[in-house]
Amino acid sequence: MGSTKLLQNMVLAGGLALSATSMAATPSAAMLAGTCAACHGTNGSSVAVIPSLAAAPAEYFVETMKAFKSGARKATVMDRVAKGYSDEEIALMGDYFAQQKLIPMKQGFDKTKLNQGKRLHDKYCEKCHEEDGRKPDVGGILAGQSMMYLTFSMDDFLSGEREMEKDMKKKVNEMLKETDKSSIESLIHFYGSQQ
Ligand code: HEC
Ligand code: HEC
Repeated sequence: MGSTKLLQNMVLAGGLALSATSMAATPSAAMLAGTCAACHGTNGSSVAVIPSLAAAPAEYFVETMKAFKSGARKATVMDRVAKGYSDEEIALMGDYFAQQKLIPMKQGFDKTKLNQGKRLHDKYCEKCHEEDGRKPDVGGILAGQSMMYLTFSMDDFLSGEREMEKDMKKKVNEMLKETDKSSIESLIHFYGSQQ
């Protein structure tokens, strides 16, 4: 089963309903964002598999929502969710989530892997995902993000299902040439360990 399918099943198993439709004419940013809480957690800090949205830069949020809407970024549920919102509403939510503080997810991690992950991060990722992945400027926050989501994301990047930014691709390929596939897992433990 592909990672996308797996994620979809987990979302469906949670019995979470899409609630994007029944909104008032001019809802506030907080009201709009409230409809995402069932999956993304209160104010965008997730407590389970689904990625956190809190503190992601508005620009990244808007681009991501547009990519879901157009189908440029493949999704299990977000393609349908994103279609329920206008550009104005997406912009409002982007500003709202950017202002929220991320509460890192509580999750288990492996200490040996995290130490290896830290070294790999410094060498191959820190240039863009600064401050150990805590700085949100590029691609949102990685530190404290759902490890399961990071695993799905890296799978999708490596399989080509989700397009990697070309300089990131260069670094990831360089890393995979110099190490082995366990490096990806180590990096994920490093990000997940920051709680
Ligand atoms: C039914 C559950 C569900 C609901 C409701 C939901 N999402 Fe999502 N969201 C997901 C899943 C699952 C993903 C991972 C991508 C995918 O497979 O669709 C995701 C991914 C995202 C991402 C990409 C995050 C990243 O780091 O790249 C954004 C942005 C996002 N959602 C925004 C929203 C917004 C805004 C709302 C409310 C209007 C919302 N979502 C409602 C399940 C949901
Ligand atoms: C040259 C800059 C650059 C480097 C180096 C880089 N990245 Fe990225 N990364 C990005 C950009 C830009 C995005 C946003 C992609 C998008 O818009 O979908 C991103 C997105 C991501 C995401 C998805 C986040 C999400 O919420 O969906 C993950 C995971 C990630 N990077 C991991 C890594 C890892 C691990 C490394 C090191 C091996 C790395 N990146 C190196 C630029 C970089």
